[in-house]
Amino acid sequence: MPASARDARFRLSPDLALTLAEQFGTPLYVLSESHLRGRIREYRAAFRAVAPGSRLVFASKANSTLAVLKIAHQEGCLIDVASEGELRAALLAGIPASDCHLHGNYKTMPELAFAFAAGVGEIVVDSFAEIEMLSELARSEAPPSAMVAKAIGLPAEEPVRCPDLVIRVAPGVDPATHQKISTGQDDTKFGFNLADGSAERALLRCLELGLPVVGFHCHVGSQLLDPEAQRAGGEAIAQLAADMLRRHGFETKVLNVGGGLGVRYTDADDPMAVEDYCRLVVEAMRAPLEGTGLDPVLMQEPGRSLVAEAGVTLYRVGVVKTVPTGEGRTRTYASVDGGLSDNPRPALYGSRYTVLRAARVDQSDEGEAGAAKFTVAGRHCETDKLFVDVDLPADLAEGDLLQVLCTGAYNSSMASNYNRFLRPATVLVREDGSLAPVQRRETYDELFAREILPAL
Ligand SMILES: Cc1ncc(COP(=O)(O)O)c(C=O)c1O
Repeated sequence: MPASARDARFRLSPDLALTLAEQFGTPLYVLSESHLRGRIREYRAAFRAVAPGSRLVFASKANSTLAVLKIAHQEGCLIDVASEGELRAALLAGIPASDCHLHGNYKTMPELAFAFAAGVGEIVVDSFAEIEMLSELARSEAPPSAMVAKAIGLPAEEPVRCPDLVIRVAPGVDPATHQKISTGQDDTKFGFNLADGSAERALLRCLELGLPVVGFHCHVGSQLLDPEAQRAGGEAIAQLAADMLRRHGFETKVLNVGGGLGVRYTDADDPMAVEDYCRLVVEAMRAPLEGTGLDPVLMQEPGRSLVAEAGVTLYRVGVVKTVPTGEGRTRTYASVDGGLSDNPRPALYGSRYTVLRAARVDQSDEGEAGAAKFTVAGRHCETDKLFVDVDLPADLAEGDLLQVLCTGAYNSSMASNYNRFLRPATVLVREDGSLAPVQRRETYDELFAREILPAL
């Protein structure tokens, strides 16, 4: 049985929680710089120990705050971007486009043109239509349009070059995770099916068009606590590389097995130690390559497992209310000053989190009460139950601060303005303990900046 990762989730002391709430308000995303840097170093070292020369790519959809992108890049990650917006975020963070990989199942021509002009390092190809668009762009002698050139600070006369291409493969493995975050099975919008020969045809079409294709990619799903799907996915793309060498003389230079390693949202989640995980996927990728002479750069593309545990969300309890639920039973709601607009995951996926009292408003009473069940609710006009039946101190009171652990991934990047709520600020707890706001709270001016009220 592989070893579990130890519980290393970042959490706030009462003093720090009170200081943060006072200085920056709530709800508030808080990220630990030392946790984030430490986790990336740990993951890279584990990967390099079994695959020297391997590259870690940070999936920026997990958290594309510019400071996070910069830290990930400083720690040696390439950056996976899934839209022009994410690419622009990376560029704004000072990351060279050549260190960015562009993803997406439906990339538009203007988006691809922007990526070419910016000079992204790699495009992960997802469809036959995209191959034709790439070929059209690669054949074009045109320099980037003045608009694109200006946006990315390039001289307008610079010619464009086709980035390296990697073919995204749907390897037909069915991961054990929520169906909304599983992507490796046959029935998926992502990539080229392996079993029906689409992946091979995609390679041949790229070669026929003279496009600079360098390898294969798969990403089979997210929050995977059982690594079997990634193991099988890695083995499948390596087998494809071996087959393409034998059948077509194609020499694979890059194999990317995607992300997906799970994290500890609650104590019921028991993610694998990253050393064991890396060994497992690398062994799976190496086996089919043995004796072929192929020696591709191995890549992984984690998001959540690099940043989730470095973050917490701080809320203030507003209303505590006990209601009858029938047959003499009751439920106690603790409403907090955020909700599905800052964390849509419970509503989207039924995600569970660890919720702790971070600090009590009544500092005079030192005694800690026993635990009681609470349902932590948000402020939104849905059944905005954030965290159902969590254990919290029985004397939880209005004004207390709650911290929700493991919110560094897919929270700020998925936040919305539903019910016209302002998106929270993010504060980075620096390695020296100082507090650096890295995203300020949205303002009402920004909230209404896009509105056009015609003469009605
Ligand atoms: C193509 C791709 N790579 C990497 C990731 C990162 O996944 P995770 O955050 O679970 O590691 C995702 C997540 O959706 C993805 O779609």
